[in-house]
Amino acid sequence: MAANTYLTGIKPTGDFHLGNYIGAIKPALSAATAYDTYYFIADYHALNTIKDADELRHSIRSGAATWLACGLDPERTIVYQQSRVPETFELTTILSALTPKGLMNRAHAYKAARDRNNEAGITDLDAGINMGLYNYPILMAADILVMEGTHVPVGRDQSQHIEYTADIAGYFNHRFGESYSFPVPKGVIDDSDASILPGVDGRKMSKSYDNHIPLFLPENKLKKAVRRIPTDSTPVEDPKDPDSSVPFQLLTHFADAQKVSEVRKRLEAGGMGWGDLKNELFEAINAELGPKRERYEELMADPGRIDAVLAAGSERARERARATLERVRAAVGVA
Ligand code: TRP
Repeated sequence: MAANTYLTGIKPTGDFHLGNYIGAIKPALSAATAYDTYYFIADYHALNTIKDADELRHSIRSGAATWLACGLDPERTIVYQQSRVPETFELTTILSALTPKGLMNRAHAYKAARDRNNEAGITDLDAGINMGLYNYPILMAADILVMEGTHVPVGRDQSQHIEYTADIAGYFNHRFGESYSFPVPKGVIDDSDASILPGVDGRKMSKSYDNHIPLFLPENKLKKAVRRIPTDSTPVEDPKDPDSSVPFQLLTHFADAQKVSEVRKRLEAGGMGWGDLKNELFEAINAELGPKRERYEELMADPGRIDAVLAAGSERARERARATLERVRAAVGVA
């Protein structure tokens, strides 16, 4: 077995924003230069929420195109599509037979959906909840274990899923470990300031707070979105505190150190208005994302190319999945 396998799933729901770029895409791309990496589009996870074929197809391509445009190299990383690795779903069945239902009852996402029903005064707390949501943690465990993933870079919100995966691997290993054991994976959760981008209101950028800026906005719309970031009415000539300014915080993630320190000095000295700061911010974001936006648009105009990348990556991923399943089938006694 390879030493370390970094594996993560990309939920292709909705478009990506600047916070995803700083918090997930950039760190995963830098891990991809150092480790053995498996990154996949979690399309069957997305089916739980997207029930429109054209929309799902678009989301899969757009998710893959976003990562490829940002620099994910399919020669280095195995880039694949979950649904094209059917061994995942066979493993889901096997793991389901070992997983206590009570564990699923305690899953945060499931409990949150029931709480929402409760708050809405709906007496059947399971109303509107599908089995896909309920079984999600087992499918996610299968995603990871089928590739023998050892390190799983995810956001803090996914930490329970990683604990569940470790638990489920443990149930299997306890029963069948004499014949085959899964490596027990660890979450790689980066909570450092470098990976948390503020949204336009200063809270963490998130679609659920509606404080986000989409990743590939056309240049003129990006400029407008940056201009609309709220700032106070300190006059241009007054000194300003960079550290309490959202546009300045954003600038630190997109501009180089020299530019950041130059702008800091200008703000502290007075004479630099918020409008000037926002121009600097727009230029920095656009310099970083402009070429990526162009690549994204080229890829989206040629969906056959994206599909071919996913098909080729999925074949490579399947080789590993098949090898795992062969051992798992023998261990449980169906082969
Ligand atoms: N649940 C993850 C999310 O919502 C996506 C995901 C699916 C995943 N399968 C995975 C992440 C396996 C890491 C490993 O973001």
